[in-house]
Amino acid sequence: MMTDLDYLSLASAMHRLTEPAVSSAISLLPLVPGSRGLDVACGNGDHSLWLARAAKPDGCVFGIDICKEGLVRAIESAKSAGLKGELAFLQGDVCSIPFPDHIFDWVWCADCLWPGPRSQGFLGMNPLPALEELVRVTRPGGTVALLFWSSQKLLPGHPLLEARLNATLVACYPFQEGWDPRAHILSAPLWMNEAGLMDIRGRTFVADIQGPLSDQAQDDLQLCFQMLWGRAAEELPEKERENFRVLCSNCSADFIAANQYYYGFITYTIFTGRVAAGSLIIAN
Ligand SMILES: C[S@@+](CC[C@H](N)C(=O)[O-])C[C@H]1O[C@@H](n2cnc3c(N)ncnc32)[C@H](O)[C@@H]1O
Repeated sequence: MMTDLDYLSLASAMHRLTEPAVSSAISLLPLVPGSRGLDVACGNGDHSLWLARAAKPDGCVFGIDICKEGLVRAIESAKSAGLKGELAFLQGDVCSIPFPDHIFDWVWCADCLWPGPRSQGFLGMNPLPALEELVRVTRPGGTVALLFWSSQKLLPGHPLLEARLNATLVACYPFQEGWDPRAHILSAPLWMNEAGLMDIRGRTFVADIQGPLSDQAQDDLQLCFQMLWGRAAEELPEKERENFRVLCSNCSADFIAANQYYYGFITYTIFTGRVAAGSLIIAN
C-alpha cells in the first residue's frame, strides 16, 4: 500500500504489469449491455478505462476519487482513448459518494478499503462505513466488488531473500503486529457479510510476468521491486541488502528481470457480493 503521491507516480507501471489479472477480475462483473457502473477511488483512471471498454456497447462508467491530480490524468487518458459518453469522472469521497441510492448495477473499488490509520491517509480501521456507501449506491440485485493486490512472487531462485523481504514490517504495511485479523484485506468477506451483502465470493487472478521482458517491462518491474521492498530491504542484514541491490536494480549486471527465462507473478483478489433484493429503501 502506498501514499497517494507514490501511487500516482507508479500507477501506470503497476497497471501495465497487472492488467491481465485485473481484466480477468473485471470479467466477473455483470456487464450486461447498458449496465451502469461506478469505479470508486479510481486513481489515475486506468481501471475505469478497462471497465468502460468491457461495458461496451451501451454501458457507462463513472469514476470518482478524492484526489484531483489523479482525476486530471484519468480525464486525459479517457480523451486519448476516445471514450466520451461512456466514461465520466468526478471528485468524490468514498465515505459520502456523490450519487443517489441504488443507481448503479455494479460498483468496483480497487485497493482503497485497506484498513489503516487515518493519520497515514487510510480510511480508518473500520472499512464498514465506506463499504456501506458502496452498497447504498448499488441497486438491489447489483454487485459490489472489492479488489486487492494480494500477493506476488517476483524473485525466482531466491525464495529465502523474498520471504525475508516480505516478512519485514514495511512490506506488511499497513497491517501491523497485534492487529485484529479482521483488519486484513483477506477478511473482506466478513466485512461484506456485515454490510448485508449476499453470495459473497473471493477469486484470485494471476498476472504472469514472463521473460524475455521488454525494456519497458524491465523498468516497470524495477519500480515494482522498489515500491514493494526498497524500504523493506533496510530492515535486513547488509549481506541480504546487497543481494537485493544486485538482483533488483536495473543498473546491475545481474538484474533478475533481464534474464530471458525470468518468471514471476502478481495476484489480485476480487471479492464480490450481491445487494439483497429487499434492500431498496422506499421513501414515504
Ligand atoms: C492505491 S490507490 C488505488 C487507485 C485505483 N483504484 C487503482 O487500483 O489503481 C488508492 C486511491 O484511493 C483514493 N482515495 C483515498 N481516500 C479516498 C476517499 N476518502 N475517497 C475517495 N478516494 C480516496 C486515492 O486518492 C487513490 O487514488
